[in-house]
Amino acid sequence: MKIKDKEFKSYISHQEIADRVAVLGKDITKKYEGKKPLFIVILNGSFVFAADLLREVNTECDVTFIRLASYSEMQSTGSVKELIGLTENIFNRHVIVVEDIVDTGTTLEHIYDLLQDLGPASIEVATLLYKPEAYKKDIGLKFIGFEIPNKFVLGYGLDYDGVARNLKDVYQLAESE
Ligand code: IMP
Repeated sequence: MKIKDKEFKSYISHQEIADRVAVLGKDITKKYEGKKPLFIVILNGSFVFAADLLREVNTECDVTFIRLASYSEMQSTGSVKELIGLTENIFNRHVIVVEDIVDTGTTLEHIYDLLQDLGPASIEVATLLYKPEAYKKDIGLKFIGFEIPNKFVLGYGLDYDGVARNLKDVYQLAESE
């Protein structure tokens, strides 16, 4: 499938994602029963994953959305912008950061440090996708959907220069690219 100027191939189907997200939801439910966790969803890319994940979580919880961007077209820029939109008091709360993808980890580390300063009871990370070959940080990722190779992916919330977030499946840049 051609998206903008690049060729992409089907990589993870909507059904495979749904099955895995259901498992993550059960896992989170078990670990956070009675703790009323606060999900902090990192926009824009995580909105699809978060919507599906939260509906698989079967214990009382809160959700809020923040924004922080580090990606320009197909390469991580290495620099990050400021955090926008955190209005909740997270002191003493059990926080679960929801990410679409952890690549170098630069974005995540920045968010993690900012949140840590606000005194939460705990912070864990739930990410749909994780690129271990690209990851350069030490923060542990508690809930991982899929470990994937260091190739560009899109769909299911993830974009390529603003497009393709609405695709149901995850697609990967074709080999020849
Ligand atoms: P990091 O700071 O390098 O870990 O990059 C994290 C952010 O970059 C993610 O939240 C995505 O928005 C974006 N990103 C990283 N890899 C990809 C990819 O393969 N496709 C689309 N976006 C990506």
